[in-house]
Amino acid sequence: MPISKRLLLLASLIKDANRGVFDVGSDHGYLLLELYHRGFKGNLKGVENKVGPFTNLTNNTLNTPISTSLSDGIDDLTNNYSCLVLAGMGFTNIAKIIDKNKEKLNYIDQIVIDAHNFIPESRKYFIELGFKIEKELILKENNIYYELISFVKGHKDYSDEELNYGPILLRTKDKAFIEKYEEINKKLSELLDKIDVKNTRYNEIKKEIERNTLIISK
Ligand SMILES: C[S@@+](CC[C@H](N)C(=O)[O-])C[C@H]1O[C@@H](n2cnc3c(N)ncnc32)[C@H](O)[C@@H]1O
Repeated sequence: MPISKRLLLLASLIKDANRGVFDVGSDHGYLLLELYHRGFKGNLKGVENKVGPFTNLTNNTLNTPISTSLSDGIDDLTNNYSCLVLAGMGFTNIAKIIDKNKEKLNYIDQIVIDAHNFIPESRKYFIELGFKIEKELILKENNIYYELISFVKGHKDYSDEELNYGPILLRTKDKAFIEKYEEINKKLSELLDKIDVKNTRYNEIKKEIERNTLIISK
């Protein structure tokens, strides 16, 4: 099966200078295999906490230097890895994985995430843990928008607008970014048509549409 555009873009965010990549929720191991085929020089480890995906991961990575582990989140993370990948998960799960072993972030220089929801909260969460946003990419695949974020150690202040839309996505304003907010606005407008003007949500939705319109037309 050809690797998805999303995983190819995730791979492109990972620095080759890392000691190693620790991929939580590796599933079939496609991201690590892509890095291996690209000639990534550091250690590669895939972690799964479920037997089915773990079996796929170990079978797919046989005869490669990729190591695997059936364990929870970053329980097995060591100093051999400096890049942490958390992709294809909801923010609640991501935060749960980190909160369980926060001290292990001392090993980590780069975190690459693809959170499937609560993206502004995800930005805020890692920024509060001492990371700053280094790169952001947005793409649409199979009718779903994905925002991929690379954090590196450091401090930077962000406005609410930057946390919400993404500081880099706001600057690059890619086609997918514009389309995403056009689609959101279309859905919100349809919702607005069905809501009574006296409903408290009415003004909130109206403001959100106006804010999105301003952002994409700036
Ligand atoms: C939707 S898949 C995403 C796979 C791959 N990372 C990607 O982006 O395509 C999420 C994977 O994370 C695994 N997972 C979820 N929570 C986990 C945890 N706490 N520790 C290890 N793996 C976890 C699931 O078993 C599942 O295979």
